[in-house]
Amino acid sequence: MSATKLARGGAAAAALTLCSGLLILASTSANAAPGCSVDYRVNQWDTGFTANVTLNNLGDAISGGWTLEWDFPGNQKITNGWSATFAQSGQHVSAKNPSWSPTLPTGASATIGFNASYSGANATPPSFKLNGTTCSGGPTTTTSTSTSTSTSTSTSTTTTTTTTTTTPGQPGEHLANPYVGAKGYLNPDYVANVNSLADATGGALGTSMRKVAQNSTAVWMDRIGAITAGRGLTGHLDEALRQSSGGTPVVIQVVVYDLPNRDCAALASNGELKVGENGLARYKAEYIDPIAAILADPKYRDLRIVGIIEPDSLPNLVTNLSKPKCAEANSSGAYVQGIQYALNKLSAIPNVYNYVDIGHSGWLGWDSNMGPSVQLIANTIKGTTKGVNSVDGFVSNMANTSPTDEPNLPDPNLNVGSQQLRSATFYQWNPYFDEADFGTEMRNRFISAGFPSGIGMLIDTSRNGWGGPNRPTGASGSTVDAYVNSGRIDRKLHRGNWCNQAGSGIGERPTAAPRAGFDAYVWIKPPGESDGIATKTDGPNEEGKQHDPMCDPAFRGDEQANGRNLTGAMAGAPHAGSWFPAGFTSLVQNAYPAL
Ligand code: BGC
Repeated sequence: MSATKLARGGAAAAALTLCSGLLILASTSANAAPGCSVDYRVNQWDTGFTANVTLNNLGDAISGGWTLEWDFPGNQKITNGWSATFAQSGQHVSAKNPSWSPTLPTGASATIGFNASYSGANATPPSFKLNGTTCSGGPTTTTSTSTSTSTSTSTSTTTTTTTTTTTPGQPGEHLANPYVGAKGYLNPDYVANVNSLADATGGALGTSMRKVAQNSTAVWMDRIGAITAGRGLTGHLDEALRQSSGGTPVVIQVVVYDLPNRDCAALASNGELKVGENGLARYKAEYIDPIAAILADPKYRDLRIVGIIEPDSLPNLVTNLSKPKCAEANSSGAYVQGIQYALNKLSAIPNVYNYVDIGHSGWLGWDSNMGPSVQLIANTIKGTTKGVNSVDGFVSNMANTSPTDEPNLPDPNLNVGSQQLRSATFYQWNPYFDEADFGTEMRNRFISAGFPSGIGMLIDTSRNGWGGPNRPTGASGSTVDAYVNSGRIDRKLHRGNWCNQAGSGIGERPTAAPRAGFDAYVWIKPPGESDGIATKTDGPNEEGKQHDPMCDPAFRGDEQANGRNLTGAMAGAPHAGSWFPAGFTSLVQNAYPAL
């Protein structure tokens, strides 16, 4: 048996068990006909396993709570579970509905899960009971058998393969890649900003602007207030439900971005919570808990919700511990524990898919950064309840402008004038020139570190297009610097520049499964929203944001940040996250592919 729809974390088809039986409706009384089927999926290793159990109610609606029971055939022992309250006595297990979800309408399903230990065999429980009645139906599972015959001159062999499939996108099912077969959520507030600027601009440029609004952008929960203010998280999810009313599932990306000491190496996106002011406890109770409670509302379970976890945070603990706020975020454990808490809460919701930030090629590409980054990020995730299975993958280039590909410089080891391209001033020996190569290598390293081979990468392509008239079409020159500078599409003055980059353009449109190992190109940073205010301020604004010199076009002076180059930032930009029409216009003019 092999299954075509592996739950995320499925290491190998052989490790997956799918149990189903024939549909028989049993009835215990005249007015309440119970009936149920159970889909029991296991992802196991030598001594333990994670199970995802989907309970389908085929009988009358249940309103007063439900309990699913089974007996393990071996010595399986549950260590922790989610989306139900588990109790085990010997081999007997009961899983009771979560308090927020006592109902199970006819035809509805609930997905619960647990981690467990075992030794010897890990056989599937032979039967399950729902509210005391044995489940004997299995309508979500189909079995297909194909037969192929191969003949040689003297022998004839017949091979029979049996394939078990489940219908993709069942409510509560956790898919291998949530982007496939879904349409992206269009944030009406962002669409309104774009379209009103397009109206005011008019002409061909206005038409190009309008095309941007047809692409999905992420919703940023960038402060506690964002959960409820304006449209709020509930409003976005309700709107996403409305957008899915035609039948195509909607994927909505929610950026989780409020750790204490946020943006610890810079000032532009400093946040409201501080480690020294009880920030971690507030992050958990006032920020993550309410977000998780909203996302877990059963009415949203058909949405595919992508959690984008804490931009820049763990990478800052690798490269910026010389900055006091990063050192404090590290020594207090606030970043690591905050992320673990967020992952524990969000990974307990079956239709949430978590992607953790991994910086970008121009930041973590050096081996001396990449190795420790993988170690820190991997260990952080392994410290969660579901371990490596609490994430679905990783996201690079968030709010940055590193290109997806450097088409004119495909080989960092190419010799020009007896020097490798990677030794050029622009690359400073960093062998990763683009996000495709960087993401591929990071993915391989995470898999080597114990993550499932199915993990998927995302690249934020919202502003890494580098089109327009200055885009080079080839490379030439007899020195590495001449060659690299003539050929690179990344026109930044220094790879460390990050704020409102002049000349950058909108990149590849959001795309599902664009290349091997990548779940999607995504637009996490909504194009046209500022990275930080260009001019000096008298202190933080009400959200904690401040002026960072890297957003000042005239600043030239940080050896570590940008080698004392100019910042390349656009003039006139407002605070981070605010709508910046001139920035948007420039991104549209420099889009690649053109809009
Ligand atoms: C800001 C956030 C904003 C996000 C998206 C970040 O730089 O700090 O407040 O929501 O960008 O624009």
